[in-house]
Amino acid sequence: MEVRPRPELFDFHGVGMITDFTENWDNIQNFKARPDDILIATYPKAGTTWVSYILDLLCFAHMGPDRQTSIPLHDRVPFLEICEPPMPKGLRSWQTNHSYLAGTDLADKLPTTPRLIKTHLPVQFVPKSFWEQRCRVVYVARNAKDNAVSYFHFERMDSGMPEPGKWSTFLQNFMEGKMVFGSWYDHVNGWWEKKQTYSNFHYMFYEDLIEDCGREIDRLCSFLSLSPSPEEKERVKASVTFDNMKQNKMTNYSTFDSMNQTISPFMRKGKVGDWKNHFTVAQNEQFDEDNKQKMKNPDLKFRCEI
Ligand code: A3P
Repeated sequence: MEVRPRPELFDFHGVGMITDFTENWDNIQNFKARPDDILIATYPKAGTTWVSYILDLLCFAHMGPDRQTSIPLHDRVPFLEICEPPMPKGLRSWQTNHSYLAGTDLADKLPTTPRLIKTHLPVQFVPKSFWEQRCRVVYVARNAKDNAVSYFHFERMDSGMPEPGKWSTFLQNFMEGKMVFGSWYDHVNGWWEKKQTYSNFHYMFYEDLIEDCGREIDRLCSFLSLSPSPEEKERVKASVTFDNMKQNKMTNYSTFDSMNQTISPFMRKGKVGDWKNHFTVAQNEQFDEDNKQKMKNPDLKFRCEI
């Protein structure tokens, strides 16, 4: 099977990017958001899939089981900025009906209301129509150490991403912001600042979801003015456990041929604190020092253990 070479990271208006996310730039910037759209924004590996699935179930479980068993989550919640060039036949099984895939096209064709749309863009790159239409925004953030570990394993297993190199090299690049979608620090801070001036905004944390998923579902419902019955809420909670999402072919990305899940599964560990199995004492000290310099806002706090 012909294999696409790993992409190279390049600087795009001050942010690390690969062509898959810049190729369709004009269409992304001119994307027409609708007032009832819900934008799910994250730095990669912060829990995007988890929150996407929670929201999909909260909004659409009433449509019956077919949606849940036959449409992969990434088709229900399009990835706004993705645009992949034509693939050699057979390379991506989920592409059999597409010559290429653009998130903007998928979103345009979504038959549901509201539309759930996912993005990893730093806040300054978000198409302006989302703000003009006053769309609801759910941002998910994850502590930098676990986020870095998860990103490292993801780049190892996804040939659509740059080569991560050794862990020590990757970690250095992470601290320097030389990553696809740029610096974690800029991302979480940029979106946090946006929340201060844009009210239709729910900023949430991966660690809180791990601590008490039911409470976070309640908060999402209250933000979105949804009022599922206690039984419906329990059903959502049971469906979105790590183990169930790992088994579920519609949520575990097993339909993506660019991901080699034997190298590292997409649903890898789903824990807070796995960074302790990766960081040396010296790396941890250096990371903490660097973090102190970059995270000056006392209101934005992360938990690296719970
Ligand atoms: P790990 O690599 O640490 O296991 P994203 O969806 O943004 O790409 O994030 C993927 C990360 O979220 C992975 O982290 C994955 O295991 C974790 N994740 C996904 N669903 C989860 C769930 N239901 N519970 C806990 N973690 C989950």
